[in-house]
Amino acid sequence: GNGMIIAVDGPTASGKGTIARALAAHFGLPHLDTGLLYRAVGRQCALNGGNPDDPADARAACTFPDSLLDDPELRSEATGGLASRVSIHSDVRKALYERQRSFATQPGGAILDGRDIGTVIAPEADAKLFVTASVEARAERRHSEMLEQDRAVSIEDITADLAARDKRDRTRKDSPLVVAEDALVIETSGLRREEAIAAAIAAVDALL
Ligand code: C5P
Repeated sequence: GNGMIIAVDGPTASGKGTIARALAAHFGLPHLDTGLLYRAVGRQCALNGGNPDDPADARAACTFPDSLLDDPELRSEATGGLASRVSIHSDVRKALYERQRSFATQPGGAILDGRDIGTVIAPEADAKLFVTASVEARAERRHSEMLEQDRAVSIEDITADLAARDKRDRTRKDSPLVVAEDALVIETSGLRREEAIAAAIAAVDALL
């Protein structure tokens, strides 16, 4: 494709989803939340009665109905944890590659958010952002999201869960969460939502 590709990577609850959606609206690009694909695999694995740590069970869960992507359960912390566990298996990453790659290379351009967009899925991206924030800021954000969805979770549980997922995402062998060499880092800890979005738009404008 000849369209512009924007890669947005970063840890969970960093604000990368919000930023990616705002950039998509601003630049008029289709957007793919790739975490949702891994969440669908994690959820499908649980529905199959499989073990997310077992490579064969995780691989089998890569066959899921598209309708699963609309399941509100995909947004839960529990499913996020399952996603993080199935995502370490290379067969899972391979199974999801083509879907992400063809989205990234569609003719009009695209914006994708995830962990390895700028490093693996679309290394040729025109703009790469790495969105990050302190564990405390991310835990607080995730906590208010959960309260809005009427999900009762303690900030301590969320913090422990975020730390475990960060560690798994950063230390896995296949496609770990790393800052791409040519990525621009946006640290959102002290920023309000609108400020983070404005910083991201300015960063992309400067890169183009
Ligand atoms: O971004 P989100 O929290 O929805 O992602 C859920 C999990 O899916 C992450 O913890 C990560 O392990 C995995 N993931 C990944 N590669 C991506 C997107 C998500 O490994 N591109």
